[in-house]
Amino acid sequence: MALENIEYVRQDKLGFITINRPDVRNALNKQTLEEIEEALDRASADTEVGVVIFSGKGDKSFAAGADINQLTEKTAVDALQGKGMQQIYDKIESFEKPTIAMINGYALGGGCELAMSCDIRIASTKAKLGLPELNLSIIPGAGGTQRLARLVGKGKALEMILTGKIIDAEEALQAGLITEMTTSEQLLDKVREVSEKILSKGPLAVQLAKISVHMGTETDMKTGLMLEKLSQAVLFNTEDKNEGTKAFLEKRTPVFKGE
Ligand code: COA
Repeated sequence: MALENIEYVRQDKLGFITINRPDVRNALNKQTLEEIEEALDRASADTEVGVVIFSGKGDKSFAAGADINQLTEKTAVDALQGKGMQQIYDKIESFEKPTIAMINGYALGGGCELAMSCDIRIASTKAKLGLPELNLSIIPGAGGTQRLARLVGKGKALEMILTGKIIDAEEALQAGLITEMTTSEQLLDKVREVSEKILSKGPLAVQLAKISVHMGTETDMKTGLMLEKLSQAVLFNTEDKNEGTKAFLEKRTPVFKGE
């Protein structure tokens, strides 16, 4: 598939998925979502990729939500059938490699929901986030009602969703919606710095930590603890665990192989 609405580039171990529709503030139409899925498949198949980074082209917007031109034509059947934004974002959350949203401007509606399906959200001081779908008399339907409430708590989520309030990066940081804030100029460096930290870990441990947190927190405590125990059992039997512990004791940097 030729990519027209997004760019997908690998630089060393980082896979960059950049939404490339700046004229419409990187609004997410059907084709863009299909291309995001294609890029994810490429990042999955490429063993060199260790972290996937989502961003939006230009300095105004990460993504301004679903393309409202296409929304005008949506029917109930469309929402119920076929592959929608919600399923694609679920695929992002379940992606086996860690993901970071690099938020350089507006992250609204489906754009905010995309960021929330990533593992980590790093935003510039110019970022603005919100779920304004109720202005159109629809609800956030790509995980927004669920992920926002889990990230910031029910009260804050309801305030944001019911009022359509758009918050700045400072407020998003206070609320726990973003994990870090920096200047626009330093945003990419900060994302690279965080990525490097993740890449220095054993990749199997990264994958199982991600599964344990995402899936473990969606079930009861006992099942979550068992998931954690079983993940640890897998890791105890890996070469990377032998290397990690040995390297610590030998006071050297470990060399992990993902085995
Ligand atoms: N879908 C389709 N087109 C969109 C869009 C969207 N979600 N968001 C922005 N655009 C288009 C605008 O229609 C405009 O097109 P035009 O140049 O043909 O008039 C262009 O992008 C620029 O938008 P504009 O509103 O002029 O830019 P701005 O910088 O003043 O404001 C936003 C930016 C993001 C605050 C504003 O565009 C906006 O509120 N967008 C909709 C956000 C939303 O409700 N998302 C949830 C959808 S479910």
